[in-house]
Amino acid sequence: MKKFIFLLFSLLFSIKGTISAQSSDPNLGIIPAPASVKISGGSFVISDNDQIDIIYDSHSDEHIAQLFHNYLKEHYSLEFPVRNERDKHAKRVIRFSSVDYKRANKESYTLQIAKDHIIVSGKGPGLFYGMQSLMQLFPLNHKKILKIPCAYVVDSPRYKYRGIMLGNSYHFFPVTFVKQLIDLMAEYKLNTLHWHLTDDNGWRIQIKKYPLLTKIGAWRKETVIGHTDNEFDGERYGGYYTQDEIREIVKYAQEKYITIIPEIEIPGHSQAALASYPWLGCSGGPYHVRTTWGSGPGVYCPTDSTFQFLENVLTEVMELFPSHYIHIGGDEVHKEYWKNSAFCQQLMKEKGLKNEDELQSYFIKRIEKFVNSKGREIIGWDEILEGGLAPNAVVESWRGIEGGIAAAKLSHDVIMAPYKYVYFDYLQGKEDVEPIGIGGYTPLEKVYSYNPTPDSLSTAQKKYVLGVEACVWTEFIATPAKAEYMIFPRLMGLSEIAWTRLERKDYKNFLTVRLPVHLAILDTSGILYRVPETIGIKDDTLSGSKFTFNLKPSVNGATIYYTIDGYRPDRTTFIYKEPLTVFVPKGQKRILKTIVITPSGKSSNVTTTILNNL
Ligand code: ACM
Repeated sequence: MKKFIFLLFSLLFSIKGTISAQSSDPNLGIIPAPASVKISGGSFVISDNDQIDIIYDSHSDEHIAQLFHNYLKEHYSLEFPVRNERDKHAKRVIRFSSVDYKRANKESYTLQIAKDHIIVSGKGPGLFYGMQSLMQLFPLNHKKILKIPCAYVVDSPRYKYRGIMLGNSYHFFPVTFVKQLIDLMAEYKLNTLHWHLTDDNGWRIQIKKYPLLTKIGAWRKETVIGHTDNEFDGERYGGYYTQDEIREIVKYAQEKYITIIPEIEIPGHSQAALASYPWLGCSGGPYHVRTTWGSGPGVYCPTDSTFQFLENVLTEVMELFPSHYIHIGGDEVHKEYWKNSAFCQQLMKEKGLKNEDELQSYFIKRIEKFVNSKGREIIGWDEILEGGLAPNAVVESWRGIEGGIAAAKLSHDVIMAPYKYVYFDYLQGKEDVEPIGIGGYTPLEKVYSYNPTPDSLSTAQKKYVLGVEACVWTEFIATPAKAEYMIFPRLMGLSEIAWTRLERKDYKNFLTVRLPVHLAILDTSGILYRVPETIGIKDDTLSGSKFTFNLKPSVNGATIYYTIDGYRPDRTTFIYKEPLTVFVPKGQKRILKTIVITPSGKSSNVTTTILNNL
């Protein structure tokens, strides 16, 4: 009998154990943290032989129900019928419902999980995001019995613009990579992929009217090595996206409620275009597709033929990308090439432009007028403020937050992308233990700490902050695997600063409770994310004779290995199993090193803590 009671107890305990990770978390494990979660106890149980229907009440939502059906089939080998039905009282259903949904924000949703039904309510993107949250409630392990905790989630985003910029001029990534990024952005409720397609180092979009842009402009002779500026690999490098590929990607993104905003850089960062058609530059060339990083003579000359060229290019671009916004660059223009150009100086006289900043403003305004005439609006990097902002331009603040503040004060919409917080080409750890990067130091915690709405703006001005964007420049990101390493898990941090209200943000809960589950899923996917360091310890020097550490791996299911002799921990060293106590005799010290190794074999960086009793 005693044995039976023990068995019963352990059975109950283990059943609870399978769901407690989520139901004890006020955010139910969801990233980005929702606006409101009420946990009601109990769960919606799915076991192998259950008959559960996936239903939708409007034909426009069939694809969402179908996506969910495919998800259950792929990850849990569960195949439930998908039906169109309005019956609100049907039992044992997972219902996707938009017909009666009233909230105005199209990206909002509610998710109701009861013991006999699940209802996801929302319209379009909102319904899709409700489905994403629901998917995150499914346990990772493919158990025979799935338990989804009963709860009521009401959610909507803090910002309407939640973006990633992918800069593919420096290095070119295949269509499969772009699609995979879109998939993961959608899972984390990001809604904009800003695609930087042209720059000095390569033109990456096919333009039918100007074939040399991709015949010449998409290829560079060789590429500079590392941080040198005079050593090269001697390998021709390049590539571009055909218009068919772009249409395919745009459609793929649309199905996941992601808008792709193309960027065609003007007037600077245009060396690849000038190499293709030298008459676009003031000196007439010759120009070459840039082989080192940085910027230089790639500046368009503001002639009528240049504007005609740009209008033709933008016309094709706007046919391919239905986005309301078109990014026109505007950053880091080497205006000395205009200073030294007789044509530019004469034009400035004719137009009454006092300096080259005003010439840049003239350039951008003329392009804006054209883009506006097609019913679209421009976004430009914050340098477009110099010399006078174009009347309807959105400003992307990258050099800091000041450009964003200035633009909001001028009643212009703003996207915040300050490099110190959200440039994902910046290093995530110390330089000597990270792969080569552009520099800087932007670990996950720093990304997470960023609040895109500056305190110094008035309530009315704050409304101009459309949102936030992380930038993935690729000078030092030569492979898709490296891009994955630089993007994940910072993308999850970005999603929370873009979606979650300030009062719901909680880094400790994010890092120690939710992220480890999400990374455990990523660990099974083949994506080369960066494994965060051991939780509960940091690089430090501590004094004393007895130390106790409560550690947690940053990825669920991963193992912490450690040493106390100063050597690098690995699979041959001690495994952390329970709170670790280290004694240090008087006059000595120990060097505690820990490392996280995940089920797929990825390692974190080593954390080194010096324990001093000297
Ligand atoms: C930029 O990083 N030059 C926008």
